[in-house]
Amino acid sequence: MASQSTATKPVKNVVILISGRGSNMEVFLEASRQGMLDGTIVRVISNRPDAQGIDTAKRRGIATAVIDHKTFDTREAFDAALAAEVASADPDVVVLAGFMRILTPVFIDRFLGKLVNIHPSLLPKYAGLNTHQRAIDAGDAEAGATVHYVTNELDGGPAILQARVKIDDLDTAETLASKVLEVEHRIFPEAVNWHLQGRVLHAELGAYLDGELLPPGGASWDPCSASSA
Ligand code: GRF
Repeated sequence: MASQSTATKPVKNVVILISGRGSNMEVFLEASRQGMLDGTIVRVISNRPDAQGIDTAKRRGIATAVIDHKTFDTREAFDAALAAEVASADPDVVVLAGFMRILTPVFIDRFLGKLVNIHPSLLPKYAGLNTHQRAIDAGDAEAGATVHYVTNELDGGPAILQARVKIDDLDTAETLASKVLEVEHRIFPEAVNWHLQGRVLHAELGAYLDGELLPPGGASWDPCSASSA
């Protein structure tokens, strides 16, 4: 599953998929500008023509593409068109940064081992939508975000890196979402850099970091050291 070529290519290509606001994408653009990303962002692709993030990427001089899912009759037809666009950018990693479209094996199987997503929950808890409200309704003391490799199981691929935030009594889904988003912005580029550096990879049994199989939630992000524990 993990691509051997990723470890040997001199310049790694990063493709980012978005559907909306694109705040996670902006964090990658900023990391790249500061020389903190171990790859080049070669394309930002949206499935929505009105995605705010597309305008942001264009303003920053990044090549963009829109593949509007509404113009395709089937999910598979959309996924084939998306796969062709992504493949033309020769990616070493495909970053799903708020890409709100369920992908089929037509897309996933083609890029398996290079697909990295961020999910706003402490996976394996709360795959799917409305994660913050579900955590509050369950009376959880903590919520968080997980960066994981993508497989054909929705939000079920091996976790790479996870960050926790405390849920306070007065938290609403909105306040919790903004607290979680802050940690998303910290852990996402870090985990993708691990992939680009060849430190983390997606293998048959799960995600490996520095040769060690990671636990179900991935490595734990340490806010003090801004690195894994
Ligand atoms: C993030 O909370 C991400 O975890 C979820 O969708 C949101 C996207 O936000 N999958 P943005 O578009 O990156 O601002």
